[in-house]
Amino acid sequence: MSDDAPSRASGAAAEGAEDDARGGLIGGRFEQPTGDDMLRYSSSLAVDLRMLDEDVAGSLAHARMLGEVGLLSDDEVTTLCQGLEEVRREIAGGTWVPDDRHEDIHMAVETRLTELVGEAGKKLHTARSRNDQVATDVRLWLKKGLLALGRAVEGLVAALLARIEADGPTLMPGYTHLQRGQPILLGHHLLAHIGPLMRDRERFCDAFGRVDRSPLGACAMAGTPHPIDRRRSAELLGFGTLMENAMDAVAARDHVQEVAAACAICMTHLSRMAEELVLWSAAEFRFVRMGEAYATGSSIMPQKRNPDAAELVRGKTARVQGDLVSLLAMVKNLPLAYNRDLQEDRESLFHAVETTHASLEICRGMWQTLEIYDQRFVADLEGDFSLATELADLLAGRGVPFREAHEVVGRIVRWCEEQGGNLSLFTVEVAQTFHPAFPDDLGDWLDPRAAAERRNSLGGTAWSEVERQVAQVRRQLET
Ligand code: ARG
Repeated sequence: MSDDAPSRASGAAAEGAEDDARGGLIGGRFEQPTGDDMLRYSSSLAVDLRMLDEDVAGSLAHARMLGEVGLLSDDEVTTLCQGLEEVRREIAGGTWVPDDRHEDIHMAVETRLTELVGEAGKKLHTARSRNDQVATDVRLWLKKGLLALGRAVEGLVAALLARIEADGPTLMPGYTHLQRGQPILLGHHLLAHIGPLMRDRERFCDAFGRVDRSPLGACAMAGTPHPIDRRRSAELLGFGTLMENAMDAVAARDHVQEVAAACAICMTHLSRMAEELVLWSAAEFRFVRMGEAYATGSSIMPQKRNPDAAELVRGKTARVQGDLVSLLAMVKNLPLAYNRDLQEDRESLFHAVETTHASLEICRGMWQTLEIYDQRFVADLEGDFSLATELADLLAGRGVPFREAHEVVGRIVRWCEEQGGNLSLFTVEVAQTFHPAFPDDLGDWLDPRAAAERRNSLGGTAWSEVERQVAQVRRQLET
């Protein structure tokens, strides 16, 4: 065997080898069976079952390549391919159930294959190791996963774009420090969530290029004396290129960390969005209401309509961030090349990818069903101090240095507060007493919608800019 699992089954006792699924494959040097506790502790089968299709695909490609280079006869290749398809059907259909005696999916498939096809099955492991097998399977699984993540991001972005189309001109306060800053349009706010998501899509896409490299044929770490064609097996599996150095091919996990990082970053974006939905659902905001499909009630308080979906996104983000930290820590002290520690990577990796995917879909559903109270802030924003910047900009536009204008408007705000009111107290008559540069007519300078529309600089909140960016995102989604 080209890998070095601590396994056994009495080399002398053929029946012993039958009992121990690994024994039939790699038991020669052991006298004692593996302990039952060790079997349970060391099996990754439950996690690996997700990679059944990938494992079978890897074996099919390997068998075909071995046939093409003359290491297997045509009959053997045919037998192996048919057998592998049968094993896939049996395991997927539950008619043959692997268990903890099979250390991993590779052992399970090979064991059953050999039971079904006999001698040919024992030849399949020529010029490969479980080290390159597991690396291959994970990369194949990740390629599918990354494509699915990319599509899920697109689904959420499409839902946000639809929201902009329906509710984009809705006026709302923009916040910094969770204090009202300036009036903005909801469309502007939603575009600020779309931006990070589009970068997540780029990150998944970039990661794909580094995942799309075949380790198959690296064997344990040193390559093989057999005349294999690694490029051919890579091509049969649809890999773009190879992980060339055989040691790097089996030891590298940076692609796993990279995908987990992309997931953790994406989840962090979803979590910020979710946090806003939770806040906006509170009576203190009353800006949105979670669709019933994504809200839950209370077992004691009959009135409750809690934004649980958003809260779960926040909570699950913490776990995906943990996945990334686990994957970084797991590898940092590992000498080259393969170490069994690496078996632990999939639990974190699969969790990160699957949770991110599910969270993207839940967020899409939340946005599709969310009720938005589009008039919620209109009256509220009139005279609101979030128009203070307007007054400063008004003065600055009339030649007053902005720092001076800022100071003047600060005094106006203080005066309004002392009167117990807001900027609606600020009339033309009052204006002149604060600064001679104020015009005779304040026009629409204290109108919140006009304030938002005035901000038509590139990327500003004005509707014209929102529409321009929406068109740009739509074009990007087509690529
Ligand atoms: N179950 C192992 C894993 O998932 C497969 C590789 C085993 N290689 C070894 N040398 N024990 O990582």
